Amino acid sequence: MFSKRTGWERAPNALSLAIEEARRDPRFVDLTISNPTAIGIDPDPELLRSLADPRSLRYEPHPLGLPSARAAVSEYYRRRGVDVDPERIILTATTSEAYTFLFRLLLDPGDRVAVPTPSYPLFSFLAELADVELTHEHYGADAIIVVSPNNPTGLCPTAIERAHLVRDDTPLIADEVFLDYLISSRFGEQTFANEDGALAFTLSGLSKVAGLPQLKLSWIAVSDHPYAEEAIARLEIIADTFLSVSTPVQHALPALLDHAEVFQRALRSRLARNRALLPSHARVGDGGWYAILPLDRDDEEVALQLLTEQRVLVHPGYFFDMETPAIVISLLPDEEAFGRAVASLANAGTGS
Ligand SMILES: Cc1ncc(COP(=O)(O)O)c(C=O)c1O
Repeated sequence: MFSKRTGWERAPNALSLAIEEARRDPRFVDLTISNPTAIGIDPDPELLRSLADPRSLRYEPHPLGLPSARAAVSEYYRRRGVDVDPERIILTATTSEAYTFLFRLLLDPGDRVAVPTPSYPLFSFLAELADVELTHEHYGADAIIVVSPNNPTGLCPTAIERAHLVRDDTPLIADEVFLDYLISSRFGEQTFANEDGALAFTLSGLSKVAGLPQLKLSWIAVSDHPYAEEAIARLEIIADTFLSVSTPVQHALPALLDHAEVFQRALRSRLARNRALLPSHARVGDGGWYAILPLDRDDEEVALQLLTEQRVLVHPGYFFDMETPAIVISLLPDEEAFGRAVASLANAGTGS
């Protein structure tokens, strides 16, 4: 009756059962939180007025996105000192959808896409649904994904790593959803949106840039490469098949990207305050929303112990395919809950 690719193991495991119980405890702190609308940094409700533009009463489908919305994304890059022609911008509903479109554009069934390690677990589902294989080897891959800054390590590629990534014969997918949250390097130095040494597809969107994942607008910026025009023409047909980005969010985009500056100011100061509460052995890379605490014992065991004894939920490193034991914590919670949870991590012996 059903496809083999959807035969996922769905039975709850020991951790998911313990989470349900811990959530009922008033001491519970979720250090896996990634939802920016649930952390007490709330937009002014007036922002919703931008979605009520009367132009949205009219449906004029543009597969790549409304010209005004593509221009707004180009302006987002211009404000960061990066020149990206609106003609090279394609709108999608989510970054996950952008990945799916790109897998369909670049890969045939069984082709290999290289993903970073560690990396967040969505890739295995995206690859399965698109009938492509994941590899950690760049050599022989048909497309390469770089997540910069990486989720969860926060690392961006070094100059040497970048030179290896940019190869004329292998398309690159650069996931830059966290690039506005760099600690020390600069956006313009790191982005692949104006990288012309490879056919590069740079992904970002409102989820992380403006803290508005519920509005469903992301984008792909195609680098200025000899194959760019052909890539965009083919993506236009893929996008035309779905036409998934709503008209109101496209008309609202300039206001939503203005709001991004307000949201980011508030979140950046929260991230800095929470980073200051971390133990000295924690690693945060060069940005992003997470920190890694290396462990000297099994991470699943520690995660379960923290949950049952301290009521603190963390991700064990294996969730991200980390090779050595570690826990991954979100830097998004408010400082009071975060400080309390970090103190209980130390009590539970996760310091080293
Ligand atoms: C690195 C990275 N890319 C993409 C996404 C998905 O973003 P979207 O909500 O736009 O699909 C996430 C979500 O957490 C992420 O961590």
